[in-house]
Amino acid sequence: MSQPLAGIRTIRDLPIENRRVFIRVDFNVPMSGTTITDDLRIREALPTIRDAMERGSRVILASHLGRPKPGKDNSALSLEPCGARLAELLNAEVHMPQDCIGGIAKKVIFDLRDGQVCLLENLRFHEGEEQDDEAFAKSLAELAEVYVNDAFGAVHRAHASVHRMARFFQDRGCGLLLEKEIASLDKIVNVPERPFVAILGGAKVGDKIAVLESLLKLCNVLVIGGAMANTFLAALGFAMQSSLVEEDKLSLARTILEKAEAAKVEVVLPTDLVVATNTSASAGEVVAARSVPPGTMALDIGPQSVERFSKYVTNAKTVFWNGPMGLFEKAPFSNGTFGIARALASSPAFTVVGGGDSAAAIYAAGDDLHSRIGHISTGGGASLELIEGRKLPGIEVLRP
Ligand code: 3PG
Repeated sequence: MSQPLAGIRTIRDLPIENRRVFIRVDFNVPMSGTTITDDLRIREALPTIRDAMERGSRVILASHLGRPKPGKDNSALSLEPCGARLAELLNAEVHMPQDCIGGIAKKVIFDLRDGQVCLLENLRFHEGEEQDDEAFAKSLAELAEVYVNDAFGAVHRAHASVHRMARFFQDRGCGLLLEKEIASLDKIVNVPERPFVAILGGAKVGDKIAVLESLLKLCNVLVIGGAMANTFLAALGFAMQSSLVEEDKLSLARTILEKAEAAKVEVVLPTDLVVATNTSASAGEVVAARSVPPGTMALDIGPQSVERFSKYVTNAKTVFWNGPMGLFEKAPFSNGTFGIARALASSPAFTVVGGGDSAAAIYAAGDDLHSRIGHISTGGGASLELIEGRKLPGIEVLRP
């Protein structure tokens, strides 16, 4: 058991046999209409769910999905497709009450037999969830005898089902996914084998200031790609033309570069880029990062940068990657992100991929790359907050 979870019981230590067990999962999966486009979060929750089923628990699963708007038609955010997918994966019936509290939920839960599973409807259909509301938390707590949090992706949210409701339970603890996530991320935060290479991408420097600052204290090399790199290149005086650049973050980017120098952290930026006139272009052109042609925008890192970045990954002992290198969802701009994915999969280093888009990219790159990654986190925001060294409400509340 890693230090951050000291004192917290896991599902293995909890008396869940033949009891009603509330398991907070994170089934906030990407959807296209009612189709789940990536079921990683559901698959990763299976070990905990199966453990509870095998031990005869009456399993009450609960999750949020998306960000429903009060007073709007939010039916597209029903957890029904997740319930259907879960039933397929478990090869068992998943009962689905149409609400997460009250008579409707109780009727289904109190009819469950040992080893049976239900999935409550989207917790965020009630405003009390995001408000960490006491009364709502109590209504959820009434449903169960034991509380387990396995929703790593949501532990940074002080929401009722993640935070306030846990205190109503003497028997509370974490699930197997939460335990695995914390142990893997702790390995890079507390005892990284060196050299430690961090690769950050994605669109916004603004969203990642805190994690950039923390990584400067942890890593030896900071590789920056994706649209974020445009802001750093612009800060160094490169003309980025129509590329996405956060003009208001230029001085911040310069400060980060200065801090990196002071901390003796090597910062690696792209030397070539794939550019096009717009994001719908059917092909891109490789140019030097110094000479982006007027009227074009950078949409991926170029082949020379992929090779350079990959060398750092190959020679590292620890690698953390968060954020794509370009617009990888579109084929002409996917080479950078997929190239980095391949480099991670072939590296002998302990490799961690931090959630969201980069996790999706590992799967989208094919070739079973995911099976050769040390740890693919199910939590984007949560993994970043953990690296920032913040206390996560969903973990703190599990302590005795
Ligand atoms: C996530 O996808 O990062 C988690 O499920 C949390 O979702 P949220 O950002 O809508 O709170």
